[in-house]
Amino acid sequence: MLVSGIEILNKAHREGYGVGAFNFVNFEMLNAIFMAADVAKSPIIVQASEGAIKYMGIDMAVGLVKILSNRYSHIPVALHLDHGTSFESCKKAVDAGFTSVMIDASHHPFKENLEMTKEVVAYAHSKGVSVEAELGRLMGIEDNISVDEKDAVLINPDEAEEFVKATQVDYLAPAIGTSHGAFKFKGEPKLDFERLQEVKVRTNIPLVLHGASAIPDYVREAFLATGGDLKGSKGVPFAFLQEAVKGGINKVNIDTDLRIAFIAEVRRVANSDNTQFDLRKFFTPAMEFVTKLMVERMGVLGSAGKI
Ligand code: G3H
Ligand code: 13P
Ligand code: ZN
Repeated sequence: MLVSGIEILNKAHREGYGVGAFNFVNFEMLNAIFMAADVAKSPIIVQASEGAIKYMGIDMAVGLVKILSNRYSHIPVALHLDHGTSFESCKKAVDAGFTSVMIDASHHPFKENLEMTKEVVAYAHSKGVSVEAELGRLMGIEDNISVDEKDAVLINPDEAEEFVKATQVDYLAPAIGTSHGAFKFKGEPKLDFERLQEVKVRTNIPLVLHGASAIPDYVREAFLATGGDLKGSKGVPFAFLQEAVKGGINKVNIDTDLRIAFIAEVRRVANSDNTQFDLRKFFTPAMEFVTKLMVERMGVLGSAGKI
């Protein structure tokens, strides 16, 4: 059943678990996400970036989600715009049937971010759609980062409190040291959990972890085994994801893990039979591998069994 983002996340916030927000760019990835939710009995957030919307067409993105949410009517699902860059982009998503949008104005000065978020909240809330915003910049905390630099990059808890009060945003993504993609940490993984807890206490709303892919060893190995290169890749360890959930993270954004797992299977099939050109022979095992990974992740985040 398609519901608003806040309906899913308020429950997660109350009960203290994390819900996976999984990116999709086509039917196969979306189907794998629904299959995993069905197996794990987990609520889900499915999200499309502006690039994904350009690739699929916004009508296709919404249409696919509506069809699958009808097919799996027992699964609460929210359709979220990931990293919306403008009011217009968020409005288009709201008007097309998204039930949650992110306005990502975190690279703008604080006041501008606040004003843009307010404008999106006013429109989205008038249509029953929830809103996410971001504070701070997504980048890794390197071991040698100075205290001043750290404060400039990561979320400021005072600003977070002021921002949430002023904008009435539904959930907030605090920068605490994660980054997008497969290369998150140069040295040992490190996140600012103290800062996270402070933000949770000061805002008391659901919080969002971007750049939350874990790149488990078996996924990296599967990619490497096909001749793929992921040298130096490092994700957020499961134990960190669980600590983040304990610290108040309720929406956990995952894209890179799904991409690597999917393509590892496509490459494996291609390598194993160079006469093969039936798309289904590539995509069926790819969907199965991604589903397995997501079922496991729903267990790690605590959303399994929550429906
Ligand atoms: O945070 C970004 C997501 O992984 C989506 O990436 O813009 O390449 O679709 P994309
Ligand atoms: P990953 O690159 O770690 O999967 O993060 C995805 C994300 O944050 C989407 O908004
Ligand atoms: Zn992100």
